[in-house]
Amino acid sequence: MDEYVLDTPVVRSFIESVRALIASAGSAGDSVELIRPEFARLLADSDWLPPEYQEAVPDSGMGGGIGQWLLFRAGDGSLSLFSLVVPSESETPVHDHLAWGLVGLYRGTQDEEIFDPELTLSESRELVPGDFYALLPPRDDIHRVRTTSAETSVSIHLLTNDTGCVWRHTFDPEAKTSEPFRSGYVNVPCD
Ligand SMILES: [Fe+2]
Repeated sequence: MDEYVLDTPVVRSFIESVRALIASAGSAGDSVELIRPEFARLLADSDWLPPEYQEAVPDSGMGGGIGQWLLFRAGDGSLSLFSLVVPSESETPVHDHLAWGLVGLYRGTQDEEIFDPELTLSESRELVPGDFYALLPPRDDIHRVRTTSAETSVSIHLLTNDTGCVWRHTFDPEAKTSEPFRSGYVNVPCD
């Protein structure tokens, strides 16, 4: 069954629009293009995300006090919406997602480093609120983000899996190694 952890008209209407757009698109790339305006609107709306979903969490699955808060997930594991809260100067491990989606910055600033499948750094970019990007595996699926603002950063993730609960990977780009990784969510269990 679908799980609206944050059950509000804004979240319901966003998810309904996204599902209709995905159903009408021919590919992941097409879906991303169609969803962009909806996603931009969500990032520009400063009212819909309650403060409790913008809180860092000591001893979280991601490490570094990083909080991953589930907002919505589909009953069949085909879609999830969550916030990722990264304290100032904290960074995620290098990780993958194993599904396509969109990620955008809601608060604070971040540096993002993107790695190719051979774990070579392919791009670095600085993100400010309202900036967003597509994850499209296998080319664009591995990255690391670090909060550069004095305030905690909050990013919004829309992904086509139950990202917190699937087994994915962290990577060591220098050693060229990977480890199995399941981040979990702060506010809901996986099984
Ligand atoms: Fe990520």
